[in-house]
Amino acid sequence: MTTDFAATRAAFDLPEGIIYLDGNSLGPLPKAAAARVAQAVTEEWGKMLITGWNKAGWMDQPARIGDRIGRLIGAAPGTVVMGDTLSIKVYQALASALELNPGRKVILSDTGNFPSDLYMADGLVRTLGNGYALRTVAPEEVLDAIDESVAVTMITEVDYRTGRKHDMAAITAKAHAMGALTVWDLAHSAGAVPVDLAGVGADFAVGCTYKYLNSGPGGPAFIYVAPKHAETARPALSGWLGHEAPFAFDLAYRPGRGIERMRVGTPPVLQLAALEAALDVWDRVDMADLRARSLALTDRFIAGVEAACPDLTLATPRDHAMRGSQVSFRHAEGYAIMQALIAQGVIGDFRAPDILRFGFTPLYIGEAEVDRAVEILAAIMASGSWDRPEFKTRAKVT
Ligand SMILES: Cc1ncc(COP(=O)(O)O)c(C=O)c1O
Repeated sequence: MTTDFAATRAAFDLPEGIIYLDGNSLGPLPKAAAARVAQAVTEEWGKMLITGWNKAGWMDQPARIGDRIGRLIGAAPGTVVMGDTLSIKVYQALASALELNPGRKVILSDTGNFPSDLYMADGLVRTLGNGYALRTVAPEEVLDAIDESVAVTMITEVDYRTGRKHDMAAITAKAHAMGALTVWDLAHSAGAVPVDLAGVGADFAVGCTYKYLNSGPGGPAFIYVAPKHAETARPALSGWLGHEAPFAFDLAYRPGRGIERMRVGTPPVLQLAALEAALDVWDRVDMADLRARSLALTDRFIAGVEAACPDLTLATPRDHAMRGSQVSFRHAEGYAIMQALIAQGVIGDFRAPDILRFGFTPLYIGEAEVDRAVEILAAIMASGSWDRPEFKTRAKVT
C-alpha cells in the first residue's frame, strides 16, 4: 500500500492559518467525526432512545472498535476492548498482571513514565499492602533492572516528554526470561509508530485514543490482553458489563469471555461514535509509510531548529530506533516561548520543567508546515519576542 497523505490531510477540519503540532496531545477533528456524532445524537439517541443499545449496536461498540484499533497495534481480533480512561486501564492491566504472577511483589517502571501511571501503581500497591512495591529506575536502566524479583514491568513505550522510545521487543523478551509479565502503555505509540503486540509477545497493553487516533477530548481508552491470559486474567474492576451475563443480574460476579471481562460500566457511546468515524482515516494508512514520513518530518524539524535556534537543546534521541513521533527541545523559558509560538499560530505544548513539545502526525502535517514552524520559532528566538509578561502567566492546562 502507498498511503496518500494528501487524502488523509483532506479528511481533517483544521483551522485556517494554524500549524498544528500537538496531535500527540489532542488530535484534530476528522470531518467524518462531526457528521457521525451528529447522526448518533439525532438519529440514534434522538429517535431510537433506549432501543439504540440493540438497534444501533451501542452495546457491541467497545469490542467492534477495539478490533479496529487492534489492527494498528498488532493485536488479533477479540483481544482489545474500549472503555474508561487510560489511568483506569493502567490500573486494571496492572492488577490483573500482578495476580497472574503470584509470589512476586515488584512493579518495575521508569522515571520517564507518565506520572498518572506511577500514581495508579502507587495506589494499587497501597491497596494490596502485603509487601507489594513500585520500583522506578532511569529509562536507560530498565533492561538491566529486570531481575527475578520483578512481577510486572509497567513501561510507557514512548516518553511523553522527550519522545524517547523504548525497545519493546527487548524489554518484553528480558521480562519473560526473568519470569515477569509486561504492561505496555501505548499512549504515544498507537497511531504514532508501528506496534506489534502479538509479535513481541506483550502480555497487557493500554492506550488512549484522543491523541494520534483523533477521538476528541475525553475519548475512551483501550486495553489489550494477550490470548494466553484472556481466560485467566481476573478483572480487579469487576463491573457489570465485564460480567459473563450482565443482564442476568446475578448477585455473584463471573468474568465475561475473553477481553469482554475488561469492560467495566456503560460505554461512552457518543465518544465512541466519534472514534469510529476517526478510525476510517486509518483504513487508508500503511503504518510503515506513516513511520517513514514521521521520521523524515522529525529529522527535518530537528535539523531546521538546530541550525536556526542555538539556545534550544534537543531532548529527543537522534537515533531513529529510539524516537517516537514527537520532537522536544529544552529551554528554561520554554513556557513563554511556546506561548509566543501559539500566538503566531504554531501550536505545540509545554511540559514542566523546561520542555517545548512538538508532535508530528503525517496524516495532516507535511514539509511545508515543518519549514514554516521552524521559521516562526527562529524569528521568535532571534528577536526575543517571547520575553513578555503576557507569555509568562501559566494557564491551568499547559
Ligand atoms: C503515557 C500516558 N499515560 C497515561 C495518561 C493518562 O491518561 P488519561 O487522562 O486518559 O487517564 C496519559 C495522558 O496523557 C499519558 O500520556
